[in-house]
Amino acid sequence: MKNILVTGGLGFIGSHTVVELQKTGFRVVIIDNLSNSKIEVLEQIKSITNAKPGFYNIDICNKEALKSFFDTEKFDGIIHFAALKSVSESVQKPKEYFENNVNGLANLLAEIKNRNLNNLIFSSSCTVYGQADELPITENAALKPAESPYGETKQIGEKIINESCASNNLDAIALRYFNPIGAHESAKIGELPLGVPQNLIPYVTQTAAGIREQLSVFGEDYPTKDGTAIRDYIHVVDLAKAHISALERLINKKNKSNFEVFNIGTGKGTSVLEIIQTFEKVTNQKLNYKIVKRRSGDVTSAYADTTLAFNELNWKTEKTLEEALKSAWNWQQKQL
Ligand code: NAD
Ligand code: WQD
Repeated sequence: MKNILVTGGLGFIGSHTVVELQKTGFRVVIIDNLSNSKIEVLEQIKSITNAKPGFYNIDICNKEALKSFFDTEKFDGIIHFAALKSVSESVQKPKEYFENNVNGLANLLAEIKNRNLNNLIFSSSCTVYGQADELPITENAALKPAESPYGETKQIGEKIINESCASNNLDAIALRYFNPIGAHESAKIGELPLGVPQNLIPYVTQTAAGIREQLSVFGEDYPTKDGTAIRDYIHVVDLAKAHISALERLINKKNKSNFEVFNIGTGKGTSVLEIIQTFEKVTNQKLNYKIVKRRSGDVTSAYADTTLAFNELNWKTEKTLEEALKSAWNWQQKQL
């Protein structure tokens, strides 16, 4: 059985990926410092897959702890999710974001090098593109100056991994996720936003659940079909499966260069108003919302060209927006 390390494996995307890894037959060890997740997720994963992953409560910024951890196990691949991810918080606390996301990654890369480990998957983001000049966005689109310290940590992350690949015999894949949403069909794992959600879907589900009074739609004056901004919303289970394809590509040495980048999205753009309408239709809930001014830093439109992932990873999305929104609502209802 191949042994896979998943950093940040108790988080939103990590937990869904651990489930898919175990279903595919991998053994999984998680390290997570629980800064944005709960230990209960471990039991939930077990109740879905009948297998409990290994777990270590370790902060990847703690070099000594990381070093001792790597003394105990050997890995055939590493999926690196552990990072802070709030765009707005990163503007308030840039130092923490660089510390956690960049130094944490550098610590991990040092251990990978020292122990001759290989096969790294990195969680990157569509945020590296900013407002792209052409849509859909291909992997060749220019990376614009980052709109936030968070975005910058992802650009730097890709860069230092690329450099490690060039100098250390490392094979790595960066997956640039578009907008991950939804939850596992069991509603046992999902997204756990701390405090007031910044992202659209948790705000929608919390409003429908009565936790928030009203959803604010940020801007109705964008040059789009209905005036609201457009994004590429991908079901988290489809996203999780993309990690399995990428990992198998590396393990089976099918990669064409030692650092590769793939967009992971649906290829379809959906507006904020379309999200609201679809949510109302699939859940039979009426959503209380109002139009307010644009949120600063938001781009008009972003959706992926997924041709490369389809051709090279043999991966495509299988789930619909309707399924994703329904699963997010089922998950929300279990949180009450
Ligand atoms: P999440 O916050 O749910 O999961 C991240 C996990 O990492 C959490 O369990 C947290 O406790 C852990 N963690 C954070 N810092 C750590 C540290 N120093 N040491 C150990 N563990 C640490 O986030 P997510 O939505 O699952 O995102 C996973 C990855 O995907 C992140 O790298 C994020 O930047 C990236 N990403 C997320 C999105 C999104 O919209 N959710 C989009 C693009 C990219
Ligand atoms: C989606 C749309 C908002 C909330 C962010 C990060 C990105 C990536 C994914 C990590 C936008 C609108 C939102 C609300 C609204 N994360 N909206 N009312 O901004 O596309 O991407 O998450 O890498 O880096 O920037 O996602 O869910 O915040 O917003 O109208 O209360 O919904 O303006 O058009 P975004 P989002």
